[in-house]
Amino acid sequence: MAKVRVEASKSYDIIISAGLLQSAGEHIKNTVGGTKAAIITDDIVDKLYARTLETTLIDAGYEVFKFVIPNGEGSKNTENFLAILDFLAENGFTRKDAAVALGGGVVGDLAGFTAASYMRGMRLVQVPTTLLAAVDSSVGGKTGIDLRAGKNLAGTFYQPDLVLCDYLTLSTLKEDVFRSGCAEVIKYGVISDTSLFESLREPIESRLEEIITRCVEIKRDIVAADEREGGLRQILNFGHTFGHAIELLSDYRTPHGEAVAIGMAMMARACARLAICGTSTAESIIDMIRHYGLPTETAFSVEDIYKAALSDKKMGGGVITLVVPIEIGRCELRKTSLEELWEFIELGLKT
Ligand SMILES: NC(=O)c1ccc[n+]([C@@H]2O[C@H](COP(=O)([O-])OP(=O)(O)OC[C@H]3O[C@@H](n4cnc5c(N)ncnc54)[C@H](O)[C@@H]3O)[C@@H](O)[C@H]2O)c1
Ligand SMILES: [Zn+2]
Repeated sequence: MAKVRVEASKSYDIIISAGLLQSAGEHIKNTVGGTKAAIITDDIVDKLYARTLETTLIDAGYEVFKFVIPNGEGSKNTENFLAILDFLAENGFTRKDAAVALGGGVVGDLAGFTAASYMRGMRLVQVPTTLLAAVDSSVGGKTGIDLRAGKNLAGTFYQPDLVLCDYLTLSTLKEDVFRSGCAEVIKYGVISDTSLFESLREPIESRLEEIITRCVEIKRDIVAADEREGGLRQILNFGHTFGHAIELLSDYRTPHGEAVAIGMAMMARACARLAICGTSTAESIIDMIRHYGLPTETAFSVEDIYKAALSDKKMGGGVITLVVPIEIGRCELRKTSLEELWEFIELGLKT
């Protein structure tokens, strides 16, 4: 068992342990309290894990309710947001009761945003069941939903009261969903931990506790220094500017992790060609991405990616901030003009 303490606007523990789901009720009762618990999950995770969670919550004395959404990004929408708010109200939830997000990033973002809005903020527990949710979305307090005009356009910062990561649940993930999470793990290595990065040459399935713990420690430290993404937190977006562009261009058919993998490879190539990093650094990044069976190339054109990157919500005033690798374990933020952005994309696509 590992425990990571986050000190942000709210302080909370992330507990990472095999079989934790079975004793989740007790942990939640002790740290979060309340008398009612709303399990928010998707249909796939519901069939696999909701029963276990429900049982332990009842054993801990909770009156348990459950709201199940269809799995997939399409569920992170305003309809479900409003439906869960009504569900909480109709079942008499108070601010002191707990919303328990059981699932991947879709469930976590939607449940988190709903919990943040219900009575201006109720108790929230994240129980991540994908690798991406375990190392990234369940930690740090970003919550939100998609609007018709684009992804994550409505949201807020809302830290959970507790994160319970039972990594045994990751064993049922489809291979491509697991692989997608590996892209984020590689990202953590590149942005801040050489030894984590080097260790990724060995398979990670048998040491998930160690890997997840290290990743959330890195995210914790970055979030503690810059909770609302005024500056430093942007470092977590390594590979994401072009990654988001590729996701958008593919109509979200390219999974997030695969798009980020391509984005990281593009940044690595461009930075080597611009002498921002050495060729060997770029090669290490690209080799590691390939090692995990993730893509490093895309068929989209410079112009497509340029236009899609400009439509990103983080763009402001003709300047875009890119995260550039300097060496493995160290990245920097670099303000880039539109001409330079074009050049980065052009150099990043050239293989
Ligand atoms: N809040 C943040 O900081 C943050 C960070 C990164 C990504 N995100 C968001 O996270 C979302 C992506 O998250 P995701 O990749 O976890 O996707 P997801 O939640 O859609 O899960 C992927 C698939 O895996 C299934 N699944 C989940 N757990 C399972 C398990 N244990 N066994 C078998 N199947 C399981 C789900 O039903 C789904 O079909 C996006 O909406 C993205 O915007 C948020
Ligand atoms: Zn990501």
